[in-house]
Amino acid sequence: MNDNLLVYDTKYGSTEIIAGWISEEMKDIDVKKPEEVESIGQYSLIVIGSPNYDDNPMKSISEFIERFDQELKQKKIAIFVVCNDVEESEYRGKQIGGKFNLDILKKDLPTENIVLEEVLGGVFNPKILNEEDQNRIVNFFSEIGKSIKKEDLLFMPTVNKLDRLQCKNFVERLKKV
Ligand SMILES: Cc1cc2nc3c(=O)[nH]c(=O)nc-3n(C[C@H](O)[C@H](O)[C@H](O)COP(=O)(O)O)c2cc1C
Repeated sequence: MNDNLLVYDTKYGSTEIIAGWISEEMKDIDVKKPEEVESIGQYSLIVIGSPNYDDNPMKSISEFIERFDQELKQKKIAIFVVCNDVEESEYRGKQIGGKFNLDILKKDLPTENIVLEEVLGGVFNPKILNEEDQNRIVNFFSEIGKSIKKEDLLFMPTVNKLDRLQCKNFVERLKKV
């Protein structure tokens, strides 16, 4: 019976790749999507990983945190956010990216229980987005004064910030908490 649980979700697969790497490196960890988790009673460490979408974790991850909010206060918690903006920057007077993406995930967690946190780069592939996300990206470009059409997304390059070594280092630190 494992003492560690990794709960993650993904929309386009990059967080799943990272979850796979973590489980390969860590071995004694159960890896589940939020809807597969019935109880967290047996675990002492809960690792929560979510991609960032428009400054929000995935809904399923927020719901998981809400569902187990009392029990999470009794656990050691590690978090990682998967995103495109791995470095902090300022956008329209607002601090975004990097550790600010972590703050988004931390919002509803008992922060005193967080023993480890990491910002990990994901993959942004404009060619595979669903209709809703295509619209979101087109709107984003329009907000920053760049007018693009949905069809243009097909010609935009994929941004791949996956970094296996960084994941490995994260797991090395996880093993010590
Ligand atoms: C519609 C949309 C909104 C996004 N919003 C953000 C964002 O606010 N901040 C950020 O750093 N990355 C953002 N990203 C990039 C994703 O977090 C990144 O592609 C991540 O790897 C996706 O994870 P997944 O493949 O596991 O779903 C966004 C991507 C899309 C498609």
